[in-house]
Amino acid sequence: MKIPFSDVKAQHRQLKNELEKVFARVVKKGDFILGEEVRRFENDFARFCGSRYAIGTSSGTAALFLALRSLGIGRGDEVIIPAFTYIATAFAVTYAGATPVFVDIRDDTYTLDTGKILKAITKHTKAIIPVHLYGQPACMAAICAIAKNHRLKIVEDVAQAHGAAIKTPDGKWHTAGNLGDIGCFSFYPSKNLGGLGDGGMLVTSNEALYRQLRILRDCGRISKYDHVTVGYNARLDTLQAALLRVKLTHLKRWNTMRQKAAQVYKEVLKDIPGVVVPFKEKDRSHVYHVYGVRIPHRDKVFESLSKKNISCIIHYPKPLHLQTAYKELGYRKGDFPVSEMVAREIISLPMYPHIKKTQIVFVANALKVALTT
Ligand SMILES: Cc1ncc(COP(=O)(O)O)c(C=O)c1O
Repeated sequence: MKIPFSDVKAQHRQLKNELEKVFARVVKKGDFILGEEVRRFENDFARFCGSRYAIGTSSGTAALFLALRSLGIGRGDEVIIPAFTYIATAFAVTYAGATPVFVDIRDDTYTLDTGKILKAITKHTKAIIPVHLYGQPACMAAICAIAKNHRLKIVEDVAQAHGAAIKTPDGKWHTAGNLGDIGCFSFYPSKNLGGLGDGGMLVTSNEALYRQLRILRDCGRISKYDHVTVGYNARLDTLQAALLRVKLTHLKRWNTMRQKAAQVYKEVLKDIPGVVVPFKEKDRSHVYHVYGVRIPHRDKVFESLSKKNISCIIHYPKPLHLQTAYKELGYRKGDFPVSEMVAREIISLPMYPHIKKTQIVFVANALKVALTT
């Protein structure tokens, strides 16, 4: 049996007619930059997140970068981010001219270890970017409390967690992206909500930030040739917006299908010694963008699964403080032991809404054989 790592084709097969209709509508209309399609998708996405505003961008990286720019973060400033995330989180800080300051992650949720944030705060710290890694939100209650005490901004990196939720102490559930100043999403094709190309989104409930972000993402203009700041061409593509708007209506159902698949994985993996399955906090929902398990001899197991046509990915083999791109920051091996351990042991198993129980059982059996031979 051949098992892909993810399967967007299955989603698109089901939506073929709808997507083709939308494609034809956009082509017929001939408006390909911003316009009604982008506005409608922004409105729907803001509603989905429970935010007042949403601003479409060209990618998740652009969203993170624009968020920092809109908050006035730049040269001389420091921004706290996890040492273990996709590198774009750090790149956005660097593009803004600020310095990323890494903090280790927890060994269960793989999100920021909030007990280690305080030590990383200096008089230059301006913001924290919690990353809701693999689909589970970071501990926003602790992060919001620290940010409040130290007057820091919060930019949530929600690139992997569309539709995940967090329960606040008052018992209310909030969609991820909504608890900080700005939430940043990616619509990279394999994400829980993925485009047919690149795309991203900013959400906020702050009107001043919304106005600033709209200007920044569209060449710094307030009308066609009136540019009030040095902005960027970082717009969400109109065709992508129209296609994503169709896909958004299926996101909740797809997230539920991922959660069901995760439940099956948990059940079939529970008797295999040495496999650490994802841990979910009670006050959070997890949308399993990635189903990452920790195992001994990871690289050997990876090889063995790939020989059986089971596609896995390592998210991520190298933490950010050990990346050559950031060698000038002066971090060393051993600085963030949990990030380094997770980078050594993690393997992402095939996960997508349409994965079948038989496929999950096949992966689990192959994993068992790989671990015991
Ligand atoms: C955690 C995280 N942050 C940021 C990004 C950047 O998003 P994009 O690829 O849309 O620029 C990604 C996407 O891979 C991501 O996983």
